[in-house]
Amino acid sequence: TILVLDFGSQYSHLITRRCRELNVYAELMPCTQKIKDLKWKPNGIILSGSPYSVYDADAPHVDPDVFELGVPVLGICYGLQEMAWILGGQVAKCDHREYGFAQVQIATFGGGSADALFAGLGAEMEVWMSHGDQLSVPPTDFRVIGKTKSAPYAAIAHNSKPFYGIQFHPEVTHSPRGKEVIGKFVLNICKCRADWTMEEFIGKEITRIREICGPKGRVIGAVSGGVDSTVAAKLMHEAIGDRFHAIMVDNGVLRLNEAKQVDEMLNRDLGVNLTVVDASELFLSRLAGVEDPEQKRKIIGNTFINVFEAEATKIEATAEEEEKKGAEAKGRVEWLLQGTLYPDVIESISFKGPSATIKTHHNVGGLLKDMKLKLIEPLRELFKDEVRALGRLLSIPAPLVQRHPFPGPGLAIRILGPVTRAQVEILQKADNIYIEEIRAAGLYNKISQAFAVLLPVKAVGVMGDKRTYEQVIALRAVQSEDFMTADWFVFPAEVLKKVSSRITNEVAGINRVTYDISSKPPATVEWL
Ligand code: XMP
Repeated sequence: TILVLDFGSQYSHLITRRCRELNVYAELMPCTQKIKDLKWKPNGIILSGSPYSVYDADAPHVDPDVFELGVPVLGICYGLQEMAWILGGQVAKCDHREYGFAQVQIATFGGGSADALFAGLGAEMEVWMSHGDQLSVPPTDFRVIGKTKSAPYAAIAHNSKPFYGIQFHPEVTHSPRGKEVIGKFVLNICKCRADWTMEEFIGKEITRIREICGPKGRVIGAVSGGVDSTVAAKLMHEAIGDRFHAIMVDNGVLRLNEAKQVDEMLNRDLGVNLTVVDASELFLSRLAGVEDPEQKRKIIGNTFINVFEAEATKIEATAEEEEKKGAEAKGRVEWLLQGTLYPDVIESISFKGPSATIKTHHNVGGLLKDMKLKLIEPLRELFKDEVRALGRLLSIPAPLVQRHPFPGPGLAIRILGPVTRAQVEILQKADNIYIEEIRAAGLYNKISQAFAVLLPVKAVGVMGDKRTYEQVIALRAVQSEDFMTADWFVFPAEVLKKVSSRITNEVAGINRVTYDISSKPPATVEWL
């Protein structure tokens, strides 16, 4: 295992990712982590970059015991400067911030071999730099193993201990051979075994869930039809069978046939103990006449909690009954399953400056207080693509594993204006046609998110000899890494033509289709 200590760089989580891509488990912790409080001994430690300068009065510093633990340490950017700051080197401001590509000249020693960190990587390497400070005097007993035109100490290594520092960022994809450098460190220098695989993860996680839950006690959890909740539910089912109860709330603003499809897949195909609660009337009645998007979100969030809570109470009542009858006891409801992913965990543990308090990650808003449920989060160590890989191994159907994200408030934030059952039905049909055609054109996996939006305006059209006056559908499709920014997707014209023709022909109430060509920013992905 590699311990990545985070000094607040925007790239810190990427270091963790790269290690895992090398099949080495890595965990991120804030730089303030005390080494004596660690519950496990890492095989190596990586110090991340940081927006700070080591001499800033409020600069974050690492526990000096990092260098006493007897394991290899790699400092990246600020991590290198921090290493120098602690071990007796000096850091100075650059004349100008260095940002972008640079060539590192790799030093060779003796018979022409490079240092272990760069062994076999050649004499030069293109790397990505992003720093304002740099090393001006290396710490005692360190040698230079790489330099660039502007950084004479771009890479250093200790003469007798396995301590390394590099000024560039090997974790970003702009450093083409960066992952190999990380590989040299974690595999060759730290001697980590490359044994962190998904198969391994499933086995360990199932054992862990069984240990946590014990021989009795039920777990409840909401499923939505999305990848995360489906994978989490299947994993719980593998671990504790029918002691896990999945609950799907049909809020009336799901995609076409969604509740039915989730029921068939989870219950019938995957064997998960699932209850689908049709609460569409309740949701739609509370949404009646509401136009404001934030209001819609609030109503849906709160109603979800009410419905979920009522269902949980029913399950608890059944458990109590069984207990009274002395029936084969599965126990009471003790746990709430959450599909928390690693990025949420990172968000809650990252170093955000000396005054930052660590926030607890969001759960289903204060849910089930009276039942005093404990949280269980089987996906908390995984990135999204790892969850997908896990889903495939758990035999979850491929189309679901690759499914685009769908917002909690569902079609309510894609119907501009008030939400009614009739409007929902129009949008469901149009959206379904759009997605069908995207799949038929083989484009679904090239797009990050695609959906239809129902606009609350009417436009004039003509059908047969008649004038029509009907609503408008806007189509949206974006490509995005993280949904913080997004570009609109460039469709082949025939695809849009087919979608438009099918929607106007097959969906009563629509006579016009438009394509949204706005990027984020300044627009957002959703229209509300
Ligand atoms: P925006 O519209 O903010 O969308 O650019 C970025 C991503 O977030 C999703 N989204 C939501 N997801 N509840 C959710 O669970 C919401 O209220 C919500 N609003 C936006 C959106 O679908 C996109 O993937």
